Amino acid sequence: MFNKALTFYPISMDITNHCNARCIFCFNHWGKPCNMTRETFSAVMTKILPFSRKEGILVSCLYEPTLHPDFIDMYSSLPLQYKDNFFFTTNLVRHLTDTEINKMAYFNVHHINISLETFDEKKYTEITGVKNTCFYDNLSRVFKIFKDASPPRVRFITMLIRNNYSEILSLAQKAHDMYPLDMHEFRTPYLHNETDLEKILLTENELNDLVPKIRSLGYSNIYISADSNLEQFIKVKAGWIKSNVDEVKKVKLRMHEDYQMRINANGKGFFNCDGSEFDINIINTEELRSKLLGILRYKIKQGRYVDAHI
Ligand SMILES: C[S@@+](CC[C@H](N)C(=O)[O-])C[C@H]1O[C@@H](n2cnc3c(N)ncnc32)[C@H](O)[C@@H]1O
Ligand code: SF4
Repeated sequence: MFNKALTFYPISMDITNHCNARCIFCFNHWGKPCNMTRETFSAVMTKILPFSRKEGILVSCLYEPTLHPDFIDMYSSLPLQYKDNFFFTTNLVRHLTDTEINKMAYFNVHHINISLETFDEKKYTEITGVKNTCFYDNLSRVFKIFKDASPPRVRFITMLIRNNYSEILSLAQKAHDMYPLDMHEFRTPYLHNETDLEKILLTENELNDLVPKIRSLGYSNIYISADSNLEQFIKVKAGWIKSNVDEVKKVKLRMHEDYQMRINANGKGFFNCDGSEFDINIINTEELRSKLLGILRYKIKQGRYVDAHI
């Protein structure tokens, strides 16, 4: 029987640690570029998949997967058996050939997120730092080629920021008319290490005005991450930006799941439950199972275990 307690969730990984854009809201720090080796990728697949669940593996999370020289081959090798567990996010900045897009249409992934901030090329450069972008050309060819295949679901993620504020409603309509999207997520930026993020954040009044207007478009696939408690949401976000490093750490700890696991492009990772580190090339299946059992026992002891499917 499926046992949720014995799955890591979410499993966040990246096959590379670099990017060809520099978005003004991006939370990343940039270090020396590193690409995951095929051996490490195989180790992830062999050891981690049995401990994953539906929509639980971000095969690319923080960086830009299309920059890995083996991006197409690696994702083409994702096993069908775990198709519903995988998804990834891309900026579609690198020029993709039709052949590559055709192969993407057959990736065994639950969905592909595409980041879409604007349809205005000038604003696009201002937001992403990318000049003469291939994004729009890639996007139209992805939709053209995907329409003739049985492709993965496609989702858009759009940041709600000052730079695209006046365009959001038309952007939502245009996106909706372009392609049968599985979801269009709108979100305001969260955790960021630079205080200048405040310059691009919308005010509470602006969000209170905008969110109902997005809703009133009536598209059932729209998801707004400020939806449930807008006031509290904005307060928490403002708190993150203004708070000192210790406060940020506390918020991070509260937000993350006990079962969360992270694997970097170099194969090094950590468990969120206790911050302990591992190397995916070295750790074995028994150690992974025992980590999960440890988390489960701890949660039961604390009276915090609720989603039992044992
Ligand atoms: C970090 S990016 C990595 C994937 C890829 N490079 C891209 O941008 O599509 C994953 C998603 O996080 C979003 N993102 C980036 N910075 C963010 C922030 N400070 N708060 C919330 N989401 C953010 C991006 O817009 C993107 O949709
Ligand atoms: S494309 Fe993604 S990873 Fe790159 S800078 Fe923008 S948000 Fe960050």
